[in-house]
Amino acid sequence: SLPLLADRFNRPLRDLRISVTDRCNFRCVYCMPKEIFGRDYAFLDRDELLTFEEITRLAAVAATHGVHKIRLTGGEPLLRRGIEDLIAQLAALRTPEGDPLDIALTTNGSALAVKAEALKAAGLRRVTVSIDSLDDALFQRMNDVRFPVARVLDGIDAAHAAGLAPIRLNMVVKRGVNDTEIVEMARRFKGTPYTLRFIEYMDVGNSNGWSLDEVIPSAEVIARIDKIFPLEPVGAAVAGETAKRWRYRDGEGEIGVISSVTNAFCGTCNRARISTEGQLFTCLFASEGSDLRSLLRGGASDDELAAAMASIWGQRADRYSEIRAGLTPELRAQRKRIEMSYIGG
Ligand code: GTP
Ligand code: 5AD
Ligand code: SF4
Ligand code: SF4
Repeated sequence: SLPLLADRFNRPLRDLRISVTDRCNFRCVYCMPKEIFGRDYAFLDRDELLTFEEITRLAAVAATHGVHKIRLTGGEPLLRRGIEDLIAQLAALRTPEGDPLDIALTTNGSALAVKAEALKAAGLRRVTVSIDSLDDALFQRMNDVRFPVARVLDGIDAAHAAGLAPIRLNMVVKRGVNDTEIVEMARRFKGTPYTLRFIEYMDVGNSNGWSLDEVIPSAEVIARIDKIFPLEPVGAAVAGETAKRWRYRDGEGEIGVISSVTNAFCGTCNRARISTEGQLFTCLFASEGSDLRSLLRGGASDDELAAAMASIWGQRADRYSEIRAGLTPELRAQRKRIEMSYIGG
């Protein structure tokens, strides 16, 4: 096996997040607002997307460099036709030590009730489902396509029944929009097999009109829940985790908070992202990627791909979430950013 990569801050490469489609059937206000992602929006053409073979090849090369976790994202990854076949190909990969990779998927849950069994059978281990509210009217306002929350809840249960585990639930919290749901969500999922994680609303992409006033700091989320259901902190299970973990003092499970705004975790960030068309990004907030697709389609060997990845990672100095607080709104607005639906959250 190859020596582990280290970037300019000595961070290893461990996680690869792969966006398999830039399309989504939801129009969440904080991610793909309708005004921008409307009828005329130019999504990628089919021949621009990496094929499953190309994705698997990149994942295999990344595994030789120490990647042990692959997360499929989008857009909505379950919209990619034949996604089960890709999962089966990825499930056949091994780390240099001979272990299978941890294969996960982040989904809006809309197709899970139909697909959970097939995903599990193909070799998917676990899913993370986005769910921002239990109140149906509010949920529908947030996805902006009138998708009922009951169908997402059915999808979550179907994933559990199919044996996908652990199942994590992601709630993006926007002040004045769904913060009234914080305690309700905690109540609903306390004592269930599902781990709920509260995400600070981030300034990803160029289209969500982010402002700091709309962020509820995780400390406030924890304080609001702790008042009703007392909590205590839990240590990190895995180095470089995005979520800080808390457990209910009564033993009824745990929750997590992802605090990219108030408590950035760039110092241990071991994640790379591959966009739908095969650009490698070393940060969620990067403005430029590196084109791996032209290497693939230009006939590069595995060694050449491995060398390209090593060189890109070796130059990496990204730490956007740590410097964000020091940027004026003007400087922040000037920075070109990649849409989350393209780069994969
Ligand atoms: P687990 O493997 O289950 O821990 O998943 P994860 O937390 O790595 O991924 P998930 O797709 O569930 O993402 C949760 C939230 O964290 C989303 O809002 C992501 O955009 C955000 N996130 C994930 N990785 C990063 C990162 O490297 N930087 C920042 N700023 N946010 C991230
Ligand atoms: N800030 C924080 N999280 C976001 N997500 C999408 N857009 C944002 C944003 N602006 C979340 C989705 C999904 C995860 C991959 O990223 O809800 O759970
Ligand atoms: Fe789609 Fe997820 Fe973005 Fe919502 S957050 S629009 S479900 S990709
Ligand atoms: Fe990693 Fe960039 Fe996120 Fe920091 S902002 S944790 S460097 S992806």
